[in-house]
Amino acid sequence: HESLVPGELGESPVRATDVPEPGAVTIVVPTFNESGNVRQLLRRITESVPARLPCEVVFVDDSTDDTPEVIRAAAPDCPFPVTVLHRPEPVGGLGGAVVEGMKAATSDWIVVMDGDCQHPPSLVPDLVATGERSGAALVVASRYIEGGSRAGLAGSYRVAVSRAATWLTKALFPRRLRGISDPMSGFFAIRRSAVTAELLRPLGYKILLELAVRSRPDRVAEVPFVFQERYAGESKSTAQEGARFLRHLAGLRTASPLSRMVVFGLIGLTGFVPNLTALWVLTEAGLHYLPAEIVANQFGVVWNFLLIERLLFRERRRHRHWADRTVRFALLANADLVLRIPLIALFVGKFGLAVLPATALALVITFVLRFVGTEALVYLP
Ligand code: GDD
Ligand code: MN
Repeated sequence: HESLVPGELGESPVRATDVPEPGAVTIVVPTFNESGNVRQLLRRITESVPARLPCEVVFVDDSTDDTPEVIRAAAPDCPFPVTVLHRPEPVGGLGGAVVEGMKAATSDWIVVMDGDCQHPPSLVPDLVATGERSGAALVVASRYIEGGSRAGLAGSYRVAVSRAATWLTKALFPRRLRGISDPMSGFFAIRRSAVTAELLRPLGYKILLELAVRSRPDRVAEVPFVFQERYAGESKSTAQEGARFLRHLAGLRTASPLSRMVVFGLIGLTGFVPNLTALWVLTEAGLHYLPAEIVANQFGVVWNFLLIERLLFRERRRHRHWADRTVRFALLANADLVLRIPLIALFVGKFGLAVLPATALALVITFVLRFVGTEALVYLP
């Protein structure tokens, strides 16, 4: 690494072989085919950061074009160290790239920003200064507070989608996102000591959300910013990215066993619909209600299985073959029915409970057992 001694910008460069000193910043920039932008970005960083704050820049690149070569060609003109980490096998998309960059960072502060000049580098020293001044571990550049705007978010469709996504996300994580008006922002500063890299499971674009929910920085601050137009090229976001965002939300929301149990229960409740529908059709068709109950229950089981597979244990499916999972899930669901009756009999006969509370208690117990059994026996952690 080579870096300019701070304060020497504009004069004949005095270079030190050090990495940035304490209080300095590592700017992490994820890039995917941004060859038309990176030179301009480095120029703007050079103009507005090193004179105010010692810095280094780490690009984490998943490009298929010549972005890494363009960066390497531009790096010698920069008065700060520039590193390119090219990932031959990208995992986690944009968020995965940012976490790689954070692991490579050496400064007290990390600023994450896009490679297409939509985030003004002149704000980098302000983000860090705000953090230092307020003691915050996370400083978000927000489009949604006084002084901020999203001039560069083209089209009312994108604005509407962005607004809906922000609303949904804030509704799902009211506590973790308190004080963050713009959890979708891709521009923020975080203390390196607040990043719990081993706990992160980045999935696509919303790395700030991932950090706010899983790393839980204890204090947050915000600075307004104007989301600029892209300098060159087009957004790399796709419809698939939207689907990935929803999976990211589901994964974050079901990170604790308790919240998984709640979702498990909610999905179980929706299973009443296919169950009762099948029961109605079968009894209407003349089947005796008892065999009809047993058959109808299987409709509920299949429905629950499909939803649980997709929403709750998506990442944990690979541990067992799908046929294996199906059999185990079905056995557990039916064991639940079989266990409930003797349990009720036990509560009524041995403990003298009335039938209704005994049934309610048995329902709760078999529900929890089925949840624990599903976690441990169908989907390994
Ligand atoms: N390494 C890597 N891998 N970088 C990626 C990937 C990837 O898979 N996908 C995108 N990037 C890079 C882009 O090259 C760019 O530097 C940056 O991530 C942002 O990507 P854009 O495609 O320009 O995103 P956007 O402008 O649509 O969205 C930005 O603004 C949103 C707010 O409206 C991002 O900052 C979003 O995170 C943010 O929510
Ligand atoms: Mn962009």
